[in-house]
Amino acid sequence: MNNVKIIGTGSYAPDRIIKNIDLSKIVDTNDEWISTRTGIKERRITEGENTSFLSTKAALQAIKNADIDPLDIDLIVVGTASPDSFIPSTACLVQAEIGAENATCFDISAACTGFVYALNIGTQFIKTGQCKTALVIGAEVLSKIVDWSDRSTCVLFGDGAGAAILQKSEDNGILSIYTGSDGRNAAKLLGCSAVPVNNPFINTINEQNSLVTMSGKDIFRFGTKIVPKCIEEVLKNQDCKVQDIKYIVPHQANMRIIDSAAKRLDIDSNKFYINLDKYGNTSAASIPIALDEMNKDGLLKKGDKIILVGFGGGLTFGSALIEWMIN
Ligand code: ACO
Repeated sequence: MNNVKIIGTGSYAPDRIIKNIDLSKIVDTNDEWISTRTGIKERRITEGENTSFLSTKAALQAIKNADIDPLDIDLIVVGTASPDSFIPSTACLVQAEIGAENATCFDISAACTGFVYALNIGTQFIKTGQCKTALVIGAEVLSKIVDWSDRSTCVLFGDGAGAAILQKSEDNGILSIYTGSDGRNAAKLLGCSAVPVNNPFINTINEQNSLVTMSGKDIFRFGTKIVPKCIEEVLKNQDCKVQDIKYIVPHQANMRIIDSAAKRLDIDSNKFYINLDKYGNTSAASIPIALDEMNKDGLLKKGDKIILVGFGGGLTFGSALIEWMIN
């Protein structure tokens, strides 16, 4: 099996900032409720740019950061719950924009765990010799599928994209990955329908909207249990202790979920990198945006061990224990 490491990161969020006070003009809410229940202060919302546009911006940054030629990329995987279209995939649209002619391209649907799943796929392709250089992206334009009349969900989400380049290497940078899913009651807990089934040979007209619905309390409970479990699983796999970890990069859903996970693991919340105050929950994009910010801000040194941990619709969950290899 080949070794794999991250050699570059990138991210992009739209320029338009929507603050909590702006939301109080469209639904019955206020900054105090949103801040204390979630930690979110503002989020970015597109002015028309779609998921492939955001993905392309993040990908170009990651390519520059990794100092590679787009023609070196032989796999593009985009984790997204809000693609531009059913066909073509967001990954194919990105391929065309960045000129990665040698890549195999596809999207995966794992909601907020999308980036961890995409990272796992890229890692396995490289480990088994199917490819040498993979571009993995988490990207969302959730603003187009959010129900802007539902105050219990519309205040949570934001738009954005993050990317990482993985490459075959001498040293091992992806130490362990843990993933899982629980499809029971999935659509009731957190869902967003695609188009209804309608054709000329059936009599019923199926009406349904295609907006996000969520049972916040259930997802909250799920998050508080699954985040510590995912962290413990990747540590166990490598016989590591949480004290050996420099940072945990969690899915940025809710500060209270992160605080609860820190308490369960008996560690300081400061070990968790947080930027949800600025971006809200950007689903699959939240972990790679955070990772790129940390990379740009020089928080990560070669040899640091970090854990990425995500959970969300599906239900899906996953974590990755990474040794940082960029100087
Ligand atoms: N502003 C003001 N009041 C509100 C708002 C709002 N935006 N939203 C709900 N309320 C009200 C409710 O109506 C309720 O009022 P009532 O008591 O009079 O009925 C009260 O506030 C409490 O509502 P709860 O739903 O009990 O609030 P809770 O403390 O559970 O917080 C929240 C809700 C923030 C959504 C929380 O449940 C949560 O974060 N859940 C997890 C979400 C998540 O992590 N999702 C990740 C996956 S997303 C993905 O995969 C795409």
